Amino acid sequence: MNSVPQNKKILFVDDEESILDIAREYFLQKGYEVRTAHNGLEALQILKGEKVDCCFTDINMPEMDGLELAENIRIHDNTIPVVVMTGYPSLDNTIQTLKNGVVDFLIKPVNLNQMELCVRRVLRERHLFIDNVLLRKEVESKARLEQLNQELLFKVDELNILNRIMGDFTAISTSSDVFQRVVDLAIEIIHADQSSFYVINDAVKKPFRVTQAKAGSVDAESDLDHNAIEPKAPHSSTDPHPDLCQGQLNQLLLEIVSDELPLLVTENAGTQKLSQETRSFMGVPLKIRDKIFGVLTAAITRSAKRFSEKDLYYLSFMTQTAAQAIENLALYENIYENLFATLYGFVKALEARDPYTQQHSTRVTNIALAIGKQMLFSPEDLDVLNVAGRLHDIGKIGIRDDILLKPGRLTKEEYEKIKEHPSMGAEIVGQLGLWDKEREIIRSHHERFDGTGYPNGLGGQDIPLLARVMSVADAYDAMASDRAYRQRMKSERILNILEEGAGTQFDPEIVEVFLALHHKGSIGIDLP
Ligand SMILES: [Fe+2]
Repeated sequence: MNSVPQNKKILFVDDEESILDIAREYFLQKGYEVRTAHNGLEALQILKGEKVDCCFTDINMPEMDGLELAENIRIHDNTIPVVVMTGYPSLDNTIQTLKNGVVDFLIKPVNLNQMELCVRRVLRERHLFIDNVLLRKEVESKARLEQLNQELLFKVDELNILNRIMGDFTAISTSSDVFQRVVDLAIEIIHADQSSFYVINDAVKKPFRVTQAKAGSVDAESDLDHNAIEPKAPHSSTDPHPDLCQGQLNQLLLEIVSDELPLLVTENAGTQKLSQETRSFMGVPLKIRDKIFGVLTAAITRSAKRFSEKDLYYLSFMTQTAAQAIENLALYENIYENLFATLYGFVKALEARDPYTQQHSTRVTNIALAIGKQMLFSPEDLDVLNVAGRLHDIGKIGIRDDILLKPGRLTKEEYEKIKEHPSMGAEIVGQLGLWDKEREIIRSHHERFDGTGYPNGLGGQDIPLLARVMSVADAYDAMASDRAYRQRMKSERILNILEEGAGTQFDPEIVEVFLALHHKGSIGIDLP
């Protein structure tokens, strides 16, 4: 015979006191603990206060019947087996009790012996059931724990990366460095093979790459090196990245700008405007003061990696942080130098594309400054002249290479394009919200004294004085340097042209100052 389960507690629920008495007497003798209740509510009270191992209940009782009690027990603790004792088992009752998680039936009048067998069976089953539930719970919680741990690791990882990006940008003190840093980070953090930053906006309609980094190169290549005194060799002919078919890519960049949305091409299926070598690609627009300034791109050309949404998230975060860094830099006093460095970097990159214009801006600036000093300009005006001189041709970054670098004569249409550069330059500088005076000089450096110049046909005193100075300096240097389409002119010829242009192309007073300086040997001795 099976031994009596020790310390097992049975709850009997019946509105007939005599049945409770008999059950209590019998099971206490058998070594069980016994609790009794007269209806469902009383039973639930007991269950709230103590643990029971098994429950026998009548169906028809006041306050709360047995079926409702069974349902409540299931909700309270679904490991407690409930056995129903009923005098009138109907089909409805049977179905309902099964639904409520009742494990067995006993038909009244209940035989005590039968009851005890039932108790032993349900307790055994309960034991197995609990083991099972516990086991399952343990497995589940382990899996959940692992998942949480994984998620936590990802979060920590992500946080580290985001912090790293933020930290990297706060350490930067010039905006030109921001562009270099952002492409370096794209290589390092999202493991791109190539990353570039293109300036492209309302003013610069053709994407102009200002900086690029490639995986595996110790010092990422930079087109933007404002500290370099010597301009770099032109790389129009030695472009190290012919793999991106530029025309198509440009179109894609323009689409990113007009959509104002990041682009993710996980797998280049050949339908995108990407070169075959580009396996995976991302482009994110960079906005400064809510206006698009350029596009940061990342490409996979060699590795087996493919960009994911997460990579796009990181690239977007980098772009935003870079923009924020530029805007923050703008809040400090050195913004002037910072942005100037950035823009001047563009000019250097531009001049580097055309061997004939290398250092043109520097020379023009020096000549303009010499004239300005001779004319006793204020230190502020000389400063303006210095910045405007270096940036006067910045608008040319919006002009296609085949026009800009054309060796032969320009067609009328091409010339019209070239004539857009003063306005474009003014827009680029203006977009940053600084240098109103410089901006006007940049815009007006091709105006003529007789009012037949461009872009606005201003004449005489309507042309800002500093722009009139710039015009003479610019013309002189252009004639004194070799160009793609002609050799530099002889000094005598240049001076003649300037003299003849006095009053038509140039302000006669400024030409006079220039000629005097030239005569003294202060200008143009060893030019170019
Ligand atoms: Fe110009």
